[in-house]
Amino acid sequence: MAKILIIFGSGEGQTAKVAETIGKRIRARGHDADVFNGKSIPRGFDIEQYAAIIVAASVRKQKYQRYIVNFAKKYRARLDSVPSAFVSVSMAAARSSDPKSGILKVWLDQFITKTGWNPAHFASFAGALMYRKYNFFIRLMMKKISQKSGLPTDTSRNHEFTDWDAVGHFADEFADTLANS
Ligand SMILES: Cc1cc2nc3c(=O)[nH]c(=O)nc-3n(C[C@H](O)[C@H](O)[C@H](O)COP(=O)(O)O)c2cc1C
Repeated sequence: MAKILIIFGSGEGQTAKVAETIGKRIRARGHDADVFNGKSIPRGFDIEQYAAIIVAASVRKQKYQRYIVNFAKKYRARLDSVPSAFVSVSMAAARSSDPKSGILKVWLDQFITKTGWNPAHFASFAGALMYRKYNFFIRLMMKKISQKSGLPTDTSRNHEFTDWDAVGHFADEFADTLANS
């Protein structure tokens, strides 16, 4: 049994949900998993106790959360020395099926340049349009962007695009890699 860290960055909570789902699946495979918000890492946090690490972040205005970039930068050596993965959550992923091309690749390359960490595993999942959680201005901005991209513009409700089966599959595969390593 390995102890696994899942650290996430999230605005309206979709990446938090993805991280919790991965944590649950990994625990169901017999491992121990800590899921932490990168904004509020508990006191006494010790990266050395984790045998594997998953870093998850959402794309906000073309960038991943700065505190997640800082985390990956700070712990790059550990991320390189244990099985690790980077999980990206964005609306672009709702339109692009290939995480290693197009804009998703651009954001990944920027993340690698900023952090110095080139994750061996990269997974990309579509997020959600949380119109009911946005303030007036963000709602308007997200509606305009959605209009241009052919995404839902009904702001009277939220729209979730995350493929939970794919999230579960990713978590199972990651857990199985640990079992076999
Ligand atoms: C202010 C804001 C900016 C966003 N910018 C982007 C973006 O540049 N590209 C993209 O693909 N998705 C973008 N999104 C969509 C988010 O990635 C998506 O809503 C995701 O589910 C957010 O996850 P979170 O709640 O964990 O932050 C943006 C969302 C918000 C609210």
